[in-house]
Amino acid sequence: MLAGLRDPALYRYLPDPPPTDLAGLARHYRRIAGGRSPDGADLWCNWIVRRNADRQCVGSMQATIEAFAERGERVLIGYMILPRFWRLGYAREAVTAMLDSLFDAQGCQVAEALVDTRNAGSLALLAGLGFRIAHRIQDADHFAGATSHEYELMLDRARWRSRPARPASR
Ligand SMILES: CC(C)(COP(=O)(O)OP(=O)(O)OC[C@H]1O[C@@H](n2cnc3c(N)ncnc32)[C@H](O)[C@@H]1OP(=O)(O)O)[C@@H](O)C(=O)NCCC(=O)NCCS
Repeated sequence: MLAGLRDPALYRYLPDPPPTDLAGLARHYRRIAGGRSPDGADLWCNWIVRRNADRQCVGSMQATIEAFAERGERVLIGYMILPRFWRLGYAREAVTAMLDSLFDAQGCQVAEALVDTRNAGSLALLAGLGFRIAHRIQDADHFAGATSHEYELMLDRARWRSRPARPASR
């Protein structure tokens, strides 16, 4: 993951800085693998995406479940695929697997994503999975010398379950 995460192409629409060294990345992964936010209010689910054929790491998926009433109702998702694996269908497959888990196993009702309005690839991915734009957030962030605006996209469990069958795993 470290080598792939150093590619600046990943951060065009993301405010996060790339990891500087292995120890820092390992610390970050240990922290998020704890499974809960420090105040205990949110459940953190994180996955590294690996290719079946050779177990190569191709990206990561993230889900933050609001854990009120001991039951996840709403989940905020995030994802990235390392640039050398772009446009091979990995994000579609991995986000699909993540949503299956969140809606079926975790009992989430609504999935949300926050996407920079310029991030055409991510917006097309989510539209293809059935997400719809719910809000536009003006001046959501400021990074790389520019102000970024975001769309909040949503998908509910009923809509997800009524989707056509997905292609086989690779
Ligand atoms: C967005 C991202 C996850 C897409 O990953 P990917 O594995 O290349 O996506 P897939 O190959 O599964 O593409 C699925 C669909 O998404 C859309 N898509 C993906 N990348 C696209 C791009 N650069 N331009 C236009 N559409 C794109 C297409 O509709 C594509 O279907 P198609 O290939 O049949 O046309 C990847 O570019 C990425 O990690 N970007 C940097 C981090 C990031 O922006 N994360 C999202 C934060 S909200």
